[in-house]
Amino acid sequence: MSFLETKPGVPLLESDDLVRHYEVSRGLGKPSAMVKALDGVSFSLEAKKTLAVVGESGCGKSTLARQLTLIEKPSSGALKINGEPVGNLGDKDAKMFRRTVQMIFQNPYGSLNPRKKVGQILGEPVLLNMDHLGRKAREERVREIMAKVGLRPEFYNRYPHMFSGGQRQRISIARALILEPKVIVADEPVSALDVSVQAQVLNLMMDLQEEMNVAYVFISHDLSVVRHIADDVMVMYLGRVAEKGPTEQIFAKPLHPYTRALLASAPKIDPAHRVKAEPLSGELPSPINPPSGCAFHKRCPFANEHCAQVRPELRNFEGREVACHRVEEIA
Ligand SMILES: Nc1ncnc2c1ncn2[C@@H]1O[C@H](COP(=O)(O)OP(=O)(O)O)[C@@H](O)[C@H]1O
Ligand SMILES: [Mg+2]
Repeated sequence: MSFLETKPGVPLLESDDLVRHYEVSRGLGKPSAMVKALDGVSFSLEAKKTLAVVGESGCGKSTLARQLTLIEKPSSGALKINGEPVGNLGDKDAKMFRRTVQMIFQNPYGSLNPRKKVGQILGEPVLLNMDHLGRKAREERVREIMAKVGLRPEFYNRYPHMFSGGQRQRISIARALILEPKVIVADEPVSALDVSVQAQVLNLMMDLQEEMNVAYVFISHDLSVVRHIADDVMVMYLGRVAEKGPTEQIFAKPLHPYTRALLASAPKIDPAHRVKAEPLSGELPSPINPPSGCAFHKRCPFANEHCAQVRPELRNFEGREVACHRVEEIA
């Protein structure tokens, strides 16, 4: 199928100014309001790479994930695969797209059917998408992926509730990988796990990336989690991109005051290497009524009158993209 073919110089997955607004009721007799959950996000993801998406709870990360996996339809903007706008795909191709771009959710309890055994949970996508395979070949495929993610063969006949959080997340990873996708969108895949288990699951994901040539959009509210797994980091604030660039650079020298504050408040980063910046103060403003100008200006130690009035666009600076009027002065 042509849209699944890699084209030289064309990114695997591309988000072009994706917007998703939600209409919400404000009570009887009042006009409804718009939640600007996602307000113009662009990025491109190359095959076999990892893009981390970070930002505080409520900044629009899960909303982005739902647009990338076709769980929802964006209000505007385009999603492209190998340069082909997904909005143009017919039903059959959209099904193929869903198979190619899989999702892992934060909560491995809620996302696995408690009434089905592991073998069944993993066999279902194969049954639905590879109907040429017989029962035996299907089971073989399930057992193969179970081995890859470190689930013992006897788990095949067990129910999800019989497992720990980490093992359940391995089941979710197996389910996402079983159809050999090109992209996995992982929405806070380790946030619900104990710290000791987080590292195991992150290492597993990195090993599987090597083995299965999959690209990740890895979502986390915690910047420190993505340091070793991501090639690039995209920092989001109130539905927009604050800063985007190679992981090494972002950690060595965060430019946007919001990225600095996030790094200064990250609990898992060794204090000796921690960025010297004011940790984050105040709350994330409402995406129904975002502040004028730069949405971060009320929490920013560098903000001036211009920042309060004019919205900064993303621009190139020192090898990455930053949406800050004052980046030259504060870098
Ligand atoms: N279906 C929806 N209807 C109305 N508001 C929503 C909906 N989904 C998300 N939101 C709002 O959009 C904003 C972003 O949410 P979300 O994408 O879940 O953020 P994150 O995943 O970064 O925590 C939040 O203010 C949230 O309340
Ligand atoms: Mg979320």
